[in-house]
Amino acid sequence: MKSYIIAPSILSADFTRLGEQIAEAESAGADWIHMDVMDGHFVPNLTMGPVVVEACRRATSLPLDVHLMIEHPENLLEAFAQAGASSLIVHVETCPDITGTLKTIRSLGCKAGVTLNPATPASDIEPALMLVDQVLVMTVHPGYSGQEFMPEILIKVAEIRRRLDESHSPAWLEVDGGITAATISRVREAGANAFVAANAIFHHPDGIAAGIRSLRKAVTT
Ligand code: DX5
Ligand code: ZN
Repeated sequence: MKSYIIAPSILSADFTRLGEQIAEAESAGADWIHMDVMDGHFVPNLTMGPVVVEACRRATSLPLDVHLMIEHPENLLEAFAQAGASSLIVHVETCPDITGTLKTIRSLGCKAGVTLNPATPASDIEPALMLVDQVLVMTVHPGYSGQEFMPEILIKVAEIRRRLDESHSPAWLEVDGGITAATISRVREAGANAFVAANAIFHHPDGIAAGIRSLRKAVTT
């Protein structure tokens, strides 16, 4: 198992060549493929559903890391699990019964993840920490790729790292939004060990492989 996970988010991929671009990311050493599901309600943008997850499942053997930015995620967990999601990450803001939702995800055979918006305090995910395989900290307001990293969230990353360590949790601490070769070491120092990036990989001027290499180099040096 690698000590740092790089998870390209296909939100910035060229959707006319999605399979090829995922294959390129896989051969360049990507660890997971991150998929941003948006419903036009919880976030203003509208993106992909189970049908796209199912297509990506056929394009790669990497874990599919599915980030659900949707209201009532409980209604679609089974569909995403059947489509081939490896992990299902729900926003705590959308889950009145977060522990029940996480248990459902595990019962479907997926890794369970919880995520929180920049304005949501770390204490809101406290009841979930013993039930998760990963915690995803949003370092931008969810909805779009290509936004600026919010440095004020570093404190929250460090706080969640402390809580995970105190409870001896092996959960990945993942960050999402504005992760580039310039910001990745700051979030790693705060305690993150899994890194989502869309623009820094799929819009890298020298291509996908160069984008992944540059993040890997920045996080390991
Ligand atoms: C934002 C999504 C992110 C997004 C990241 O709502 O959850 O996964 O694709 O994009 P970058 O890396 O370009 O900030
Ligand atoms: Zn995401």
